[in-house]
Amino acid sequence: MTTGRAVVVVVGVGGMGVACARRLGIGRNLFVTDSNASNLERVAHDLARDGFAVERAVSDVTDIDAMREGADRVKTMGPIAAIVHTAGLSPTMASADKIFAVDLLGTANVIDAFEAVITAGSVGVCIASMAGSLTDLEPDLERQLATLPSSELMAVAAALGITDPTVAYGYAKRANQLRVEAAASRWGRVGARIVSVSPGIISTGMGHQEMASQTFGGVMRSMVETTPVGRIGTAEDVAAVVEWLCSPAASFISGTDILVDGGITAAMHWGDGE
Ligand SMILES: NC(=O)c1ccc[n+]([C@@H]2O[C@H](COP(=O)([O-])OP(=O)(O)OC[C@H]3O[C@@H](n4cnc5c(N)ncnc54)[C@H](O)[C@@H]3O)[C@@H](O)[C@H]2O)c1
Repeated sequence: MTTGRAVVVVVGVGGMGVACARRLGIGRNLFVTDSNASNLERVAHDLARDGFAVERAVSDVTDIDAMREGADRVKTMGPIAAIVHTAGLSPTMASADKIFAVDLLGTANVIDAFEAVITAGSVGVCIASMAGSLTDLEPDLERQLATLPSSELMAVAAALGITDPTVAYGYAKRANQLRVEAAASRWGRVGARIVSVSPGIISTGMGHQEMASQTFGGVMRSMVETTPVGRIGTAEDVAAVVEWLCSPAASFISGTDILVDGGITAAMHWGDGE
């Protein structure tokens, strides 16, 4: 660690998290965290071997105390340049309840915990999903998901009675986008920005697990084939956008979502454009 140097926080060190850490961590202090201890250890080891100044902590985004502990530790490492939240579960990985816990509550917890330690110039990026952009919710539910205290979100989710993990994922990811919108004014008051990024199908462990699924893997593979840019996305595609969002070039962007999907959402709306 170099005292006083800007800190980049990466929550979740799967495919996108590692790509973001490598892209944003150059010349800065890196703090990485994940609930998977062995993967976190391996990633932190590789980053340190490659010359990055990295500290790590095993923590679960569903645990607000652990998130606050991480935020307090980061505060001692230097001014926070960026918090990139990439931790999440996809529909083939868990039940609807668990997806709500990690993807809905976990994201709200990350926003809450780091909001307490941001300073002028800090940028928060939450990875949502194209699935959120494709999920239409009633205005009253949107307002609740955007603005209720985080501790009340799981009760809202339970009341929906959703048991299909794919539906839960869409709701949780839409909620990520809304939570970011609602946080923008609070972050702006200290000179910080917050944005969400919604990836399409990306070639990470998670992306490949979804494409291999018996139930909807075929649909996902055909989405890759019909993606207007003609390929699957890479973790680096997402990291490049995250880096730009965290740079002064994007200093007029806050409280919104950036869709990084190779054009597939547009193609789903408009077909081949004929
Ligand atoms: N890969 C895709 O095609 C795709 C598409 C759209 C959105 N996304 C979203 O992008 C984000 C990153 O996905 P990825 O492809 O890098 O996935 P990944 O599975 O490679 O990485 C996710 C990481 O989150 C960690 N994690 C899971 N639960 C956690 C918890 N409770 N607390 C802390 N860490 C936890 C995992 O251990 C893993 O390291 C996720 O939010 C995902 O929903 C992915």
